[in-house]
Amino acid sequence: MNLASLRVNGKRLQSSLEEMAKFGATPGGGVQRMALSEEDKKARDLFVMWLKELDLKITIDDMGNIFGSRPGKNRSLSPVMSGSHMDSQPKGGRFDGILGVMGTLEVLRTLHENNIETERPITIVDWTNEEGSRFAPAMVGSGVWTGALDRGWVYERTDIDSKRFEDELIRISYQGSVPAKKRPVHVYYEYHIEQGPILEKEGKTIGAPKGIVCLHWYDVYLHGEANQVGPTPMAGRHDALCAAAEMILKVNELPKRLGGNMVATVGEIQNYPNSRNIIPDRVHFTVDIRSWDDGLALKAWEIIRKDFDAIATRRGCPIKIEETWKVEHSPFDVNLVQRILVIGEQLGYSTLHMVSGAGHDASYINRICPTAMIFVPSISGRSHVEVENTKWEDCEAGANVLLQAILQSANEK
Ligand code: GLV
Ligand code: MN
Ligand code: MN
Repeated sequence: MNLASLRVNGKRLQSSLEEMAKFGATPGGGVQRMALSEEDKKARDLFVMWLKELDLKITIDDMGNIFGSRPGKNRSLSPVMSGSHMDSQPKGGRFDGILGVMGTLEVLRTLHENNIETERPITIVDWTNEEGSRFAPAMVGSGVWTGALDRGWVYERTDIDSKRFEDELIRISYQGSVPAKKRPVHVYYEYHIEQGPILEKEGKTIGAPKGIVCLHWYDVYLHGEANQVGPTPMAGRHDALCAAAEMILKVNELPKRLGGNMVATVGEIQNYPNSRNIIPDRVHFTVDIRSWDDGLALKAWEIIRKDFDAIATRRGCPIKIEETWKVEHSPFDVNLVQRILVIGEQLGYSTLHMVSGAGHDASYINRICPTAMIFVPSISGRSHVEVENTKWEDCEAGANVLLQAILQSANEK
């Protein structure tokens, strides 16, 4: 069989994505399938069932990462690995993460029905808790697997209701017995929606990121003094929410102030006791700083820390900061990125060399083996929202590029 002419079944890929979108479907057309939730469990159960239909060897490790391995002709060769994540943001979209898992599944189904054997084994993977929005930080499944994060530390992370990560992993029956620990991998591919506006703006179908920006996450805790809002004069208040408000604007102004290529965001806030007639005495908020330039992101944090301290002192609200997570910018393997661009063009799609502003498990896996990603356009550049969307024909195009990339790598001796 001429492998170069092999194509995935776009309709079948669409139907897998539509089936998965039922788990945690939201009224606004998105999904809410937070890590280790009931919806995540249902998606995992169906995924495992689909893996069984392909006679893959299924392994679930003690981080809940799910692997399905297809043998190669030469079992002594390291596998080609491909996958992404199935958890979502709260009120997230139907494509983020799941496209890379279903895209890889579609590739394996295509190989299976055509009885195609490859030299190397192929492993499909669903990484646990990529989003980090229920349990911070993000990418913990791949982080522990690669040795970048400590499993014990991740197990103790809690959600907003103080539920422990490990307890929730056990509750959904996905704490496997195999330790999450890296093994030799020949190459890793991750297929994903772009989650930004560039491909659409440039009129391109396939994006090949040269890598992923750095991600720095911080948690800020402020303590003020609660009091009855009516009788308490404005002067002398220690209003933790007002201190937070000033700090949040400082974060928003930071990229412009530094003039570099950087984004900075406060996306989450909790205010206590959260009553309209009590002066807030406790606030927690998050800071997310990203750049291709790690040094610039660190410099930004130094500046903002000084601003935070000054605001906290002026308002009499003691501040506590947790430096929750740092991932360096991750430049992908140049040859593998080039391979994605070449395959894209060979298949007749327009391509673009770009940067990923979103975080992905590929960032960690890139530390242990050559890695590349395949992006397809996000309609109107919207993602992490219910209206997140990508044309079905683009989903198919990206999966065809993934198919050819996997075939090439899996036939390398
Ligand atoms: C992951 O979804 C991110 O925060 O970029
Ligand atoms: Mn994702
Ligand atoms: Mn995401």
